[in-house]
Amino acid sequence: MDTGIHLRKIKSFVRRAGRTRESQQHALLTYAPLFKIPFTPEPCDFSTVFGNANPLIVEIGFGMGQSLLAQAMANPEKNYLGIEVHQAGMGCLLAGIHTHALSNLRLMDHDAVEILKLMITDASLSGVQIYFPDPWPKKRHHKRRLIQTEFIALLTQKLTVGGFIHAATDWQDYATQMLMVLTETPGLSNQALDGTYIQRPIDRPLTKFEQRGLDLGHGIWDVKFKKQAFTTPNKETLASFEETTTNHH
Ligand SMILES: C[S@@+](CC[C@H](N)C(=O)[O-])C[C@H]1O[C@@H](n2cnc3c(N)ncnc32)[C@H](O)[C@@H]1O
Repeated sequence: MDTGIHLRKIKSFVRRAGRTRESQQHALLTYAPLFKIPFTPEPCDFSTVFGNANPLIVEIGFGMGQSLLAQAMANPEKNYLGIEVHQAGMGCLLAGIHTHALSNLRLMDHDAVEILKLMITDASLSGVQIYFPDPWPKKRHHKRRLIQTEFIALLTQKLTVGGFIHAATDWQDYATQMLMVLTETPGLSNQALDGTYIQRPIDRPLTKFEQRGLDLGHGIWDVKFKKQAFTTPNKETLASFEETTTNHH
């Protein structure tokens, strides 16, 4: 479909045929029409979807979804949109939403980059969380990593003032990349007092890939940034500001 908008061709994921259990297949068939939002290349009104205007948090790549389910259950006053292309995880989380009759969690099965560009309006998200994104460890695959300058600029555009980006990884060189990219993005401020990583928040539920990393003896790095009220003025803004103040004297 030609949407008239340039979409990136290098994907951060590979859709695998992977096995889905019978219970997951059942959930995919039965609950998808209830809890899944179909992809359409136009802005989505999430207050209509959820039936309220509560803060909206997006999780990209929820995997098997157990940590997102726990968060949605613990925070009924927030809405959650989970994005994932892995079918077993999608089936598992759809079943979880049904079991716990959650009205504040909805899912999408599509490339998160396209969803953000086309379906999410600017300044509408209270938070974006990306836990243990695919590390793409080989150097020639680094271009597939989700957390890159252009993508973080897009996320920042979608956040409300005060909205957060929270990412975690068990790969040290990806943690370094995350910290660098987020630090260099105009309009974001690091929530770590020392300008590096935050302590692992106790209310961030353990994820499957985090456990896998811990089992391998990896470290865990969390980065959290918030969108500031005022971005650093660029050269043109500064020049016009100086002109105005000079004229007043
Ligand atoms: C390494 S897994 C981590 C899963 C989970 N967050 C955890 O910690 O257990 C990363 C997941 O992100 C998903 N993913 C990667 N890029 C994505 C994208 N652009 N849109 C949607 N899902 C994506 C993959 O399908 C994969 O399941």
